[in-house]
Amino acid sequence: MSPADTLPPPRHFLQFSDFTADEFAHVFARAALIKKRFKAYEKHQPLADRTLAMIFEKASTRTRVSFEAGMYQLGGSVVHLTTGDSQLGRAEPIEDSAKVISRMVDLVMIRTFEQTKIEAFAAHSRVPVINGLTNEFHPCQILADIFTFIEHRGSIQGKTVAWVGDGNNMANTWLQASEILGFKVHVSTPSGYEVDQSVAGLRSNDSYRVFKDPMEACRGADLVTTDVWTSMGYEAEDQARREAFAEWCVDEDMMRAAGPDALFMHCLPAHRGEEVQAEVIDGPQSVVWDEAENRLHVQKALMEFVLLGQLDN
Ligand code: CP
Ligand code: NVA
Repeated sequence: MSPADTLPPPRHFLQFSDFTADEFAHVFARAALIKKRFKAYEKHQPLADRTLAMIFEKASTRTRVSFEAGMYQLGGSVVHLTTGDSQLGRAEPIEDSAKVISRMVDLVMIRTFEQTKIEAFAAHSRVPVINGLTNEFHPCQILADIFTFIEHRGSIQGKTVAWVGDGNNMANTWLQASEILGFKVHVSTPSGYEVDQSVAGLRSNDSYRVFKDPMEACRGADLVTTDVWTSMGYEAEDQARREAFAEWCVDEDMMRAAGPDALFMHCLPAHRGEEVQAEVIDGPQSVVWDEAENRLHVQKALMEFVLLGQLDN
């Protein structure tokens, strides 16, 4: 018997549907408070003495910096592991890794390939596990994106998000979020790269509409968003994707179709001249730098929530 044996089951964030709308409202409110304190150089250290293990099986800039800096700012510390420098790359079973790592730290963030891998880890973890991106989902990014939308435009409920590009981890997570938070997604992907409702884990197709023409998907949208044509892990398909996605570049005409109040977002890293024109990502409707910064603030609120539950603002 160790202290963890007496703990309640850990609260994981493996996909967006793991939280309710009320829980998201709480996390967004805490993120706003945490951001305000951070900007004022006020100490906010509810996770003193807690340790986060970050496991990266794919590359990262934003996720690494935001989780690592965020955990230190909350008073805790971090351990950084990659496939190459740990036994994970030498075929130690994921279940064994989960049992061992979760006896030594309070929280785990994982960026990996298949969603089944993070689920297997979580099933054997004593502590909360957070998805830092899988082939199927990127819930921390959508948390930041929706927080950014709320900062600029208020509630996302009833609004329309246009997704232009690959039916990938970002698209799947936008779709899950639309069911939980009550907004619409207009999806336009090249044929062969459509979203798969079962992979996205949707209850129904009520919250999204599919458009052949990306311009039509953008028409009247409150937010236009896109992502790389080739996600990590799909590099072998790069040439075929370049050909298939040539018409799925968010340009100024698409932003005009959306309207002057529409925002543009991209999770980054971006490729100007491929999935987005430089004039759009560097233009007046783009909020990509706020979006990137907000990864820090929302994930601090997320770590606080999964470890300490709902705190009063
Ligand atoms: N958006 C995002 O997750 O960026 P990184 O790959 O740099 O972490
Ligand atoms: N869809 C991209 C997102 C990168 C942050 C990928 O998975 O590579």
